[in-house]
Formats: sequence, C-alpha cells, structure tokens
Amino acid sequence: MRISVPRGEPDIDLGSVDLFDPETYVSGDPHAVWHVLRRRAPVHRQTLPDGRSFASVTRHADVSAVLRDHTRFTSRNGTLLSILGSPDPAVDKMMAASDPPVHSRMRVPMSKALSHTALLAQEPGIRRVAHRLLAPLLDGEPWDLAVAGADFPMAFTGALMGLPEADWPRLTRLTTMAIAPEDPAYHDEAGDGTLAAAHHELFEYFAEQCLVPAQRDDLIGFLRQMKIDGRPLRLDELVYNCYSLLLGANVTTPHAIAATVQAFIEHPDQYRRLTDGADTATAVEEGLRWASPANHFMRYAVADTELSGVPIRAGEAVVAWLGSANRDERVFDDPYRFDVGRTPNRHVAFGFGPHYCIGAPLARIALRLLFGEIVRLVEEFRPAGTVVHLKSNFVAGIRHLPVTARLRPGAAPLLAEAVATAGSLSE
Ligand code: HEM
Repeated sequence: MRISVPRGEPDIDLGSVDLFDPETYVSGDPHAVWHVLRRRAPVHRQTLPDGRSFASVTRHADVSAVLRDHTRFTSRNGTLLSILGSPDPAVDKMMAASDPPVHSRMRVPMSKALSHTALLAQEPGIRRVAHRLLAPLLDGEPWDLAVAGADFPMAFTGALMGLPEADWPRLTRLTTMAIAPEDPAYHDEAGDGTLAAAHHELFEYFAEQCLVPAQRDDLIGFLRQMKIDGRPLRLDELVYNCYSLLLGANVTTPHAIAATVQAFIEHPDQYRRLTDGADTATAVEEGLRWASPANHFMRYAVADTELSGVPIRAGEAVVAWLGSANRDERVFDDPYRFDVGRTPNRHVAFGFGPHYCIGAPLARIALRLLFGEIVRLVEEFRPAGTVVHLKSNFVAGIRHLPVTARLRPGAAPLLAEAVATAGSLSE
C-alpha cells in the first residue's frame, strides 16, 4: 500500500470512496481518504455492485471499540472483507473466527507457547535468519528488500512449527496468494481460483503435518498435546489454527520491515538517530504504526448499536481500518511524522482486545533482532528502483523495494563472519 502524507484537507468526494477495491491501495491514496473520513464521516457505508455492503470505521476510538467488544461485534461471521457476506467455514474452530468463551479456550493455552519468555530460546535461531537475510548487503549491489523480507517470518515460524525447510518457499507463496489473490503476481486466470487453490493446498499441507505420527517437540507438537474442555483439538481445529498462525506471521511481518526501511530512506535523519544510539525497540513500534501491515479487520454487529453517534444495525458488517486508526490525530501528535522516538505510541497494528495478535511477542522479538542487526551494520540505505505495492485491501504490503546499502565502517567482516556461521535456518 502506498504510504502517503495528506497535505491540507484533501478534496475527496465521499460518494466515490472505494475501500473494497484492492487497486485503491496500489494506485489510490487511502491515507488521504481515511484522513477525510475520520473528520467528516467516522462511519462510512459502502455498497458493492453485487449489493453487499459494509460500514467502515476510521477513528482510533471506534476501531478499538469494534475490536474490543465481542458482545457487540462478533468474529464468528468472518473477519476479512474478502469473505464479506459469506459464512466463515472456520467458525469456532479457529481462534480468529471465534468469540469468547470458545476463543479463550484455544487462546489461553496457545498463548503460553507463544509468550515472550517461551520464545526467548528462539533468539539465536532468529538472529541467524536475520544474518542470512542481510547477507546480500556484502556485495553492495541493488537488493530487493521486500522479496528478501518475505522469507524472514517463514524461516523463524517454519522452524518454530517444525516445518521442513524445503517447503518454506512454497508456503511463503501460498500464504501471500491467500491474502492477495488479485495481485498480478499471484492471480490466476480463473479469478477466485487463486484463493481457493491456496487454501486447498495449505489445508492439505497442514493436515499432513498434523498427522505425522512421530512425537514432535515443536509448536505443532504442542498444539497436538493441547486440551480444550479436557479433549485434544480435532484435526480441523489443528489445521485451521496452524494455517492462521503461519498466515498471521508470513503476510504481515515482511511489510513491517519493508515499510520501515522505506521510511528510513525517506527520513534519513530518523535513521541517523538510530545509528547514533536511539532505542531500536521504540523505532520498531513506530515502524509498526507507520506500516500498519494488517490494514483492516472486520466484525458483524450482534445487535443494534452505535459508533461515534451513528446507528449501526444488527447484522451489519463493520470494518475497522487499522491503518487509519494509527494516523488518528486525536491519539497521535503529528500523526504523519515518522518519529523513531515516539512515546507514547498507542498503535493498533497488532489489533486490540481479545484477538490482539497472539504472535506479537514473536514478531517483536524478530523485528527487534533484525533492526538491531541492521543498525549495527548499515550506515545508510538508498533507493535503487521502482517500489511495487501489493494489490490487497487486507495487507498494506510492498512487493518490491530495491535498495542499496552502505555498510558502517568495519561492518563487512562482522556480517561475513555471522553469515558464515549462520548454517541452516532450520537447525
Ligand atoms: C508485524 C507482524 C504482525 C502484525 C502486524 C499482526 C497483526 C495482527 C492483528 C491486527 C491481529 C488481530 C486480528 C483480529 O482482531 O481479528 C492479529 C491476530 C493474530 N495474529 Fe498477528 N500479526 C503479526 C504477526 C503475527 C505472527 C508472527 C503470528 C504467528 C506466530 C501471528 C498470528 C496471529 C494469530 C493466530 C491471530 C489471531 C489471534 C486471535 O484471534 O486471538 N501474527 N495479528
């Protein structure tokens, strides 16, 4: 998605706003649209040519309210615009497609395996993955950071889940196909076929993985041991949750990386603050706010209610635009300024409430390690070609980000040695 900074009060006809069309995020200017919606139409309704409709909320307070309160807004009828109006086959089987208390029964045990403390043992492996990712910087040639970044979460999540390294490239492609089926890089001529084919392959793959008879001491092994209401998860529950975990990691994390580096290129003074010693963890949070890789999540109103004083009808689909909430001037000082030292930073890039990203501790560990290494090694990034944005209304993504990097004095031998000892990613 294009990350723009609206100037003044953009002149936008609210009747022509199309937040559904994935093309809006490639050639349009969603930030300008959201800017106007937050001011003039905090609840905005759109009807598609086929008659389906949804309400959009763009203010931080409304986005948080929709995501927080499952008694008013349910996750059981689908949480993405791509399945607007269709039943969600994963309802009550996948954490993301359930409400408490069913949701909590899955979430509470799973979050133990994905807590910051439980994941600390993964750090050496993730650092090796980061070094492998950064290896091409040694030759100083133009390097597509978006393409390289796409492999990063796959490597550490694949290792965590115990998925064979040989399968990772295919899984990276399938997960992206599942969230951007309209993107020219993934779209097949059969149209809807892209999404169905990706789902079919991924579900089949995870069913095979979950049925491997051997004991396993990885995340899939943990899920197989896990009990809800005193019983193990059924195969369909295992498969849906594995799918959701891998998708959650793969489709979002690369865009946090690419958008943050793009922001460093556009704001070299901010990158210099980091090489001068500013806190990387704080910068990672600003990168997440800036990128807002998960662009929206959807809920359905359980009963008649209201948001920002606007009535919402029972059964209405309500889309919470996270990218907009993260630029809300009611919450963020100077929201269009990229500020690596921003505190407080109440961004909702990981969502809010009961479905708050369960992978946030993992994503944070990985992003902090990666950016820690980047700051240690890279003096400056420069653009080296055309940026290509992902065609998706769900993921605010970058598909190509060609860059060159000038290494810091003495960094080349450090990186070369780290790469030489990185070994296999699945070790
Ligand atoms: C920068 C990286 C990430 C971003 C921006 C992100 C964003 C989000 C957001 C906004 C939600 C809330 C969904 C909702 O309200 O319906 C969410 C949920 C979720 N995420 Fe992430 N995510 C990231 C990384 C990860 C990782 C690394 C994993 C896997 C370990 C993951 C797995 C999940 C799962 C399974 C859920 C559903 C949680 C639930 O329903 O309780 N995500 N993520």
